[in-house]
Amino acid sequence: MEEEGLQFLYLSEPDMLEAGVLDMKQCVKTIEDMFRLAGKGDYIMGGPKRDSHGIMLWYPDEPAFEGMPKAGPDRRYMVMPAYLGGRFHVTGQKWYGSNVENIKKGLPRSILMFSLNDADTGAPMAIMSANLLSAARTGAVPGVAAKYLKSATAENIAVIGCGVINHACIMAIAEGMGRVSKVYLYDINRDRALSFQQDMEKELNAEYVVCDTLEDVLKNADVISVATAGKVKVHITPEMLKPGALLTITGTADLPKEMYLKNRVAVDNWQMHLDYLEEGKMCYQGIEGIRDWASSYDMLMLYEQGLLKEDNIVSLGEVVAGTALPRKNEEDKLLLVVGGLPIEDVAWGYDLYNNALEKGLGQKLKIWDKPHWH
Ligand SMILES: NC(=O)c1ccc[n+]([C@@H]2O[C@H](COP(=O)([O-])OP(=O)(O)OC[C@H]3O[C@@H](n4cnc5c(N)ncnc54)[C@H](O)[C@@H]3O)[C@@H](O)[C@H]2O)c1
Repeated sequence: MEEEGLQFLYLSEPDMLEAGVLDMKQCVKTIEDMFRLAGKGDYIMGGPKRDSHGIMLWYPDEPAFEGMPKAGPDRRYMVMPAYLGGRFHVTGQKWYGSNVENIKKGLPRSILMFSLNDADTGAPMAIMSANLLSAARTGAVPGVAAKYLKSATAENIAVIGCGVINHACIMAIAEGMGRVSKVYLYDINRDRALSFQQDMEKELNAEYVVCDTLEDVLKNADVISVATAGKVKVHITPEMLKPGALLTITGTADLPKEMYLKNRVAVDNWQMHLDYLEEGKMCYQGIEGIRDWASSYDMLMLYEQGLLKEDNIVSLGEVVAGTALPRKNEEDKLLLVVGGLPIEDVAWGYDLYNNALEKGLGQKLKIWDKPHWH
């Protein structure tokens, strides 16, 4: 292959849009296929246990050198490699930097890229802009969960935190539910809820209700998507939820113990969350070091204390692969805690790469005609 020259496809954000990165119907299907493979174990993620979310640069609180990045809110640099089998049979990695200070420079909080590599040779097949890829694949997870974990009569959605990620989540949840009557919206910044409503009305036909309290947004909701960012976490108790409700957490929330202990809890991949726990134990600040970014921190603490047992936890892959049934009855209030899997980026990145090839999008860039050293 090297003898004939080596090249890869570069896809910019406009190329990604033309390739259909925001087509949530296709994205939910892709992520469902991915969870089915994950449930069967046909994947490898990073680290010796093959279940790592990724490798992060842990910036110091007090850097010893001028110019060295300093720890800060939502500040990190992360690389997330993975192999995914089945029809994908490909490797890849997402890498990104996140810094809230970016916003002052007119940049998004996080800037993400993804590269797709041949599973056998490791040669790059594509490098692509991944801000939208990442948002779409993140949104697709509660979408798949809605399909498999919602109650039989579910028809109303609640949106808590009217930002970018929830935009993708709601499109995907609507896809997963099949029918939506009402969408209840809540944000600590009411204007964000109002502009979210305006945007969503163009894309999803439903009745929209902007709510002023958490109680109001939750009381009639069957599937709830929490995706807030910032210091104030939402506090939700089981009593605030309708019987049969599915509460999905993408990001973090402040939930009482009963929420984790009363009914079974679904996660995207339990082994990956256990990996967070291991990393936390190695952290120089102790386990507290993962509190801010590990969505499962409270759950992991209950597990460490022996209060939450493994047979109370189910991975979404097992549900999609048909090896676990999380809902014991229609009244169960289910919780889904999402951390984000590198195999999601690989799955959606691979399908978009194929869409791009079909449509002739992007730029082919040469690595070499012949490797200089062979
Ligand atoms: N699991 C994953 O794979 C994954 C991937 C990407 C992002 N995320 C997480 O998703 C979350 C949302 O990200 P985003 O890019 O959409 O952020 P964003 O800033 O675009 O939107 C967040 C919204 O939440 C609102 N908000 C903040 N606190 C609130 C509260 N207490 N109650 C109600 N609303 C509140 C804000 O006003 C804002 O409108 C973040 O926590 C991010 O880390 C998770």
